[in-house]
Amino acid sequence: MIYTITLNPALDRTIWVDRIRDDVSNRIVREDNYAGGKSIDVSKVLKNLGVDNTALGFVGGFAGMELEGRLLNDGIQTDFVRVSGETRTNIVIHEIGTGRQLAFNARGPEVRPHELIQMIDKIQELPEPQMVSIGGSLPRGLSAEIYRKIINLAKRCHYGTCQSKVILDVDGESLRVGIEARPDVIKPNIHELSQLVGRELREVDEVRAAARDIRRKGVDTVLVSMGPRGILLVSSEGEWIAEPPGVEVKNTIGAGDSSVAGFMYGLAQARDLSECLTYAAAAGTATTLKEGTALASLDDFNRLVPQVSLTELSAGRVGT
Ligand SMILES: Nc1ncnc2c1ncn2[C@@H]1O[C@H](COP(=O)(O)OP(=O)(O)OP(=O)(O)O)[C@@H](O)[C@H]1O
Ligand SMILES: [Mg+2]
Repeated sequence: MIYTITLNPALDRTIWVDRIRDDVSNRIVREDNYAGGKSIDVSKVLKNLGVDNTALGFVGGFAGMELEGRLLNDGIQTDFVRVSGETRTNIVIHEIGTGRQLAFNARGPEVRPHELIQMIDKIQELPEPQMVSIGGSLPRGLSAEIYRKIINLAKRCHYGTCQSKVILDVDGESLRVGIEARPDVIKPNIHELSQLVGRELREVDEVRAAARDIRRKGVDTVLVSMGPRGILLVSSEGEWIAEPPGVEVKNTIGAGDSSVAGFMYGLAQARDLSECLTYAAAAGTATTLKEGTALASLDDFNRLVPQVSLTELSAGRVGT
């Protein structure tokens, strides 16, 4: 089984109004809720690509039940830890008259130590884990140190004779600490990698050099996404860049999470890493074709895969 872990999932509530006006009661013309959070998005795209998976995380209160119900409706299995606080609700307001979008992100509930232990126990006992993806922000009450523990546990779960693979998509301090636990794959974007190494990375050679430095710390595969410029892969099997075709972008929200799912889709079929990279680029770009919070569809993904241009990068020194 493939598992995704979102420590701070959210119910994303989108509201449409004609025009926001002061001092009157604004009429909502449409409203919709979605299950949100980085690895939740990974779960949804995996499902769209036909890969069964189970979502783990902390949920609480009515919003948490709504989030879980929505995932079950989408055919995604769940195994959440219930917390005493209420799952956060992020709000997006679309002003139809102007096309303006206003986003309000909530912090979410505090996770108490005994609730954390329930999650740790769950990860320790995951039945037949093949792959575990971990992504998103930390809830209040947890420190980045928790990634060290979660990654070590997820790596120690065994599936047959193979060790499960851990894919980490977090940023800042969580990424720095997480790398020390040697996940199999990390997927920072170019800005997150720049922040990690403490210098602005622009050219592909600069990104490669930084990714190689991280590989030396024990991360087997470093994927760096660069928006429309595609994704770079630095791994034990070699180094490649996958560049997506030019498309009419509707919305880039969730593109990075979709790339993680595309890569896992390839790993689940035991494809070569370069092929997994092509899938990562195609899935990310497939999501940019969708309005709002909608994510990559199988049709768009299949259509984009042959349009991704994959280039093997020559071995040897690269600039810093
Ligand atoms: N403007 C775009 N045009 C075409 N493809 C894109 C565009 N933006 C993103 N993508 C695709 O999605 C992939 C991941 O995008 P990106 O580097 O923006 O991830 P990210 O910054 O982690 O995103 P997220 O906000 O979801 O965390 C890219 O490698 C590319 O394949
Ligand atoms: Mg990202």
